[in-house]
Amino acid sequence: MELDKVIKERYSVRRFKKLEIPWYIVSECLEAATYAPSSGNVQNWHFIVIKEKENREKIVKLCEEQYWMLNAPVLIIVCNVLTKVRRLFDVRGEALYAVQNCAAAIENLLLKAYELGLGSTWIGAFNETELKEMLNIPGDIRPQAIIALGYGQDFEKTTREPLDNFVSFEEYGKREDKSRNTFPISETLKKNIDTLKYKLGKNDKENKK
Ligand SMILES: Cc1cc2nc3c(=O)[nH]c(=O)nc-3n(C[C@H](O)[C@H](O)[C@H](O)COP(=O)(O)O)c2cc1C
Repeated sequence: MELDKVIKERYSVRRFKKLEIPWYIVSECLEAATYAPSSGNVQNWHFIVIKEKENREKIVKLCEEQYWMLNAPVLIIVCNVLTKVRRLFDVRGEALYAVQNCAAAIENLLLKAYELGLGSTWIGAFNETELKEMLNIPGDIRPQAIIALGYGQDFEKTTREPLDNFVSFEEYGKREDKSRNTFPISETLKKNIDTLKYKLGKNDKENKK
């Protein structure tokens, strides 16, 4: 599947079909997660895969009444192995890099899951202390997110604000870019991509001659 399609079509799924996920699909998603960038390539993530119904039920009870999670056949607990990052990058590493590294891994996982036909949701609302206790997670390791995975049943697509709302030039909040006619950015973006696709297509044809 084209990257642009995966990025723009992925959405959080909270209703799942009663279908198991083959292990090789889950492992593909986990492997994709490990290809995320991380500060100093520290790879401070660890994934706990939960498939047993009894364990999933216990976890859902720790997730602030998000009972929809019960229908996800697989839950993945993404743990942030803090020790590794603290050793290399001290306070900034612990406060920022460690979390960012795991977040990058999670995004990779979600995108891969979508590419493989799965639905997913990133869950951040849970009782961390009780989850740690339940899963025997050692002191210096933080469960950072739970990913609910399964074959999705619904399509409740969220929307996004226009890109223009999120971009400044040269300094925070400065909206105009004097050198170019950039607003609305979404339009320039589309034009450039169309031109690029056209050029690539043309090159392809010429190469095949
Ligand atoms: C850090 C983080 C925590 C989240 N926690 C929850 C959660 O506890 N429960 C939930 O249903 N969705 C949760 N979400 C999913 C967001 O609600 C969802 O990504 C957002 O509404 C955008 O929708 P989309 O994923 O369909 O594009 C979380 C997302 C992030 C990034």
